[in-house]
Amino acid sequence: MCGIVGFIGNNDSKEILLKGLEKLEYRGYDSAGIAVMNEDGVQVFKEKGRIADLRSIVEEDVLANTGIGHTRWATHGVPSTVNAHPHQSKTSRYTLVHNGVIENYDLLKREYLQDVALESDTDTEIIVQLIDLFAKEGLSTEEAFRKTLGLLKGSYAIALLDEENKETIFVAKNKSPLLVGLGEDFNVVASDAMAMLQVTNQYVELMDKEIVIVQKDQVTIQNMNGETISRDPYTAELDASDIEKGTYPHYMLKEIDEQPLVTRKIIQAYQNDSGKLTIDEEIISAVNESDRIYIVAAGTSYHAGLVGKQFIEKLAKIPVEVHIASEFGYNMPILSEKPLFIFISQSGETADSRAVLVNVTKLGYKTLTVTNVPGSTLSREADYTLLLHAGPEIAVASTKAYTAQLAVLAILAEVAGASKGFKHEFDLVQELGIVANGMEVLCNAKEEFEDIARSFLSTTRNAFFIGRGIDYYVGLEGSLKLKEISYIQAEGFAGGELKHGTIALIENGTPIIALATQESVNLSIRGNVKEVVARGANPCIISMKGLEMDGDTFIIPEVHELLTPLISVIPLQLIAYYAALHRDCDVDKPRNLAKSVTVE
Ligand code: M6R
Repeated sequence: MCGIVGFIGNNDSKEILLKGLEKLEYRGYDSAGIAVMNEDGVQVFKEKGRIADLRSIVEEDVLANTGIGHTRWATHGVPSTVNAHPHQSKTSRYTLVHNGVIENYDLLKREYLQDVALESDTDTEIIVQLIDLFAKEGLSTEEAFRKTLGLLKGSYAIALLDEENKETIFVAKNKSPLLVGLGEDFNVVASDAMAMLQVTNQYVELMDKEIVIVQKDQVTIQNMNGETISRDPYTAELDASDIEKGTYPHYMLKEIDEQPLVTRKIIQAYQNDSGKLTIDEEIISAVNESDRIYIVAAGTSYHAGLVGKQFIEKLAKIPVEVHIASEFGYNMPILSEKPLFIFISQSGETADSRAVLVNVTKLGYKTLTVTNVPGSTLSREADYTLLLHAGPEIAVASTKAYTAQLAVLAILAEVAGASKGFKHEFDLVQELGIVANGMEVLCNAKEEFEDIARSFLSTTRNAFFIGRGIDYYVGLEGSLKLKEISYIQAEGFAGGELKHGTIALIENGTPIIALATQESVNLSIRGNVKEVVARGANPCIISMKGLEMDGDTFIIPEVHELLTPLISVIPLQLIAYYAALHRDCDVDKPRNLAKSVTVE
């Protein structure tokens, strides 16, 4: 969480930093700050709240060619102006922004900084005070920075200004993402290329434990021993329009609407010249040589994993277990002899998933990451990567990444099964095409979902999602969408499980959103709906064409029954979106959350 930026060049840096931070707000948005440096020294502006709040306090007439900035998701200390970054050393010589968590900050404070009255409650402040302390003891800034980094345990992406060295931004990284962007007569630093796409698309990736001396016409990467490392830049394949809302009121709505296009892009990306679905042979061998697949993920990606299990077991006939990343480390199951680990992660940065990846890599197991972000940590650190091709997903609530994850997992299962000679009666390319068309129909029915949200959810305190089989997993995703953006307490349940406890929660008018897209359980889920209606519930039934019954609230277009999650989720995304709007919630930036969860 948290996003950092830096700029050094000939232009005024303020606006570049603020614009960059706006693009990084998805990483955290409880407070923000910038520090700019010119011949008069360093000036810090920081504020609780959003970048817009910060913008309003930045003084227009301060001109500076160098600066750093930060948008925060609080881990240590409440969101406040004092805890906002940048933090300054007591002498004001050093100013620093940090993304990550310093696990041993308390110990370092007691050992080195007993005489320093810290201003904030953050783990970050000790970094800048330590650098200052070591500089006062006679070390150069580079030496003091290196010595401090050597003491830190945890994760960091850091940008540091030294008032006595105005030509440089000192940068370092360990476990938190960080890039250096290259320009003509300027260079930049950013947690994500998106932030600085406004000025450059040329980036150099940084590896853990590297230190970078960034000057306006030179970038020097060093390892912890001070040895220089050379690395070629890459071109960020991002279009500036991908990261703009355009005419949409919210990124979430734009991203929901992009799902048909993304599904078609995925089909193309995984087709060979003769139109056959194809995946790197090494990946298919790793899948087919494994005796059990362990899918590890969090949140929406975990829900995609639950559906992915069905695809892989049915099409490739390999047993699959799906695990919540944050639980896996403490609760490691007995592993099979030849496991393959699949990490599903939109961002490719989720710390909980990464912790498992690091562990299982140490144990010598093969790993595959399914991610939307090429070059992300989980992608770099796994043996293999499959990309989602969904384009940047900026709204905190994941939508197009979920359906992209499902499409890619279906293709993986299909290609793995086909390479073992398994046959089935449908053509996945054709069926995914039908899915994309169905998605379009649903995206064009927004008014109906707005009405459903208004009549079922505008005043309720809670809501339940029920389904059986694959519909149950989609219900889990629907309930996560609703709770995270509308703050309605929403839960997903297996239809048959209600009578074992949950049905006690049903009161007069409780909204129940039931999914009925599976022929084999259509009658049973209808039975469950009757049970809750008999106890006063207000049912919203979303069924599929061919399985519809009188009184259904919405009927989605027919697609192959294994692929229904790719389209049945769209009504749930749109219902959550409109429920949040009706309740005046901040759809794209819900409270307490951040898009990229880089703390465990
Ligand atoms: O980037 P990841 O897919 O690894 O993120 C995992 C979860 O944090 C994420 O899916 C989260 O649950 C979303 N906000 C849900 O909409």
